[in-house]
Amino acid sequence: MLFAPVLGRRAYGLHIMLSTVDRHLSTLSRRRPSAYNLMQTHYFATGNGSAMVLPSKLPDRKGIMTTDATLQDWQQQLSTQSPKDILRFAHKQFSSITISFSGAEDVVLIDLARKVSDRVQVFTLDTGRLHAETYQFIEQVRKHYDLDLEVLAPERERVEALVREKGLFSFYEDGHKECCGIRKVDGLKRKLATVDAWITGQRRDQSPSTRSDVPVVEADTAFGSPEHPLVKFNPLANWSSQQVWEYIRMFDVPYNPLHERGFISIGCEPCTRPVLPNQHEREGRWWWEEATLKECGLHSSQD
Ligand code: ADX
Ligand code: SF4
Repeated sequence: MLFAPVLGRRAYGLHIMLSTVDRHLSTLSRRRPSAYNLMQTHYFATGNGSAMVLPSKLPDRKGIMTTDATLQDWQQQLSTQSPKDILRFAHKQFSSITISFSGAEDVVLIDLARKVSDRVQVFTLDTGRLHAETYQFIEQVRKHYDLDLEVLAPERERVEALVREKGLFSFYEDGHKECCGIRKVDGLKRKLATVDAWITGQRRDQSPSTRSDVPVVEADTAFGSPEHPLVKFNPLANWSSQQVWEYIRMFDVPYNPLHERGFISIGCEPCTRPVLPNQHEREGRWWWEEATLKECGLHSSQD
């Protein structure tokens, strides 16, 4: 089963007990390497302070396996590196890796990746509710970079059932989670089931309430599982909005024209609005909801 977060969590208790034994055995095995090293499971600290059970090995492009210790090593190594170096590293380690592009300023990921790899893959989740400008921009980016850009549509039956039952704007009444789940998260699950690693444009400065701890690389606890471990790179984690925009201007990177009209963070049309001077960018998203709820499920664990 590819997505079994609930099962995974139930299994944590047992794994926590086993981990004590595991640590002792691990100490022994460090002294004398054995086949045990190849079998044990490990914990990998994630950005949000939780822990994920990972098999000791993750696939990489050379067919060699990567241990959790290696992942922690990567975290240390990469935390001070530039987004470009992180992207180079990610593409060297994984052949099955893709960039998630929202149609906003995360276009810098594509521009940077293009400079370090000739096999850049990109996907975007078409919710059916994006601004016309965003659709045009996505197409512009596809042509500009001559990209392998996959546009993922939500499941027709689920969208139709939601709209039939609750109308086209149910998120204003009972929150965005259900609609985001159907229009975004389903497609993301489908895509992530086919890769070993993905790359996002998340930054710490995007949301003090929910993203202040985003690491540059992490085990994806929301969409990975012990059966299908998944690595998530956030190369822009340490960059500020100012740095992103300096890069866009310096290298003449195409950008979504909505940014010229006061939009900073851009999502779906009914759930995004421009912000006023000195308002935080996140205040333009799902403005009728509390700050800590302003995540659509792409980057938080699935309850
Ligand atoms: S969201 O969770 O609130 O919607 P945000 O707009 O801040 O996310 O974007 C953060 C990162 O999430 C983007 O850089 C991108 O990697 C990913 N992302 C967000 N929306 C999409 C989308 N529609 N398609 C693909 N990736 C997306
Ligand atoms: Fe639905 Fe709004 Fe989420 Fe888009 S951002 S999927 S319209 S709730």
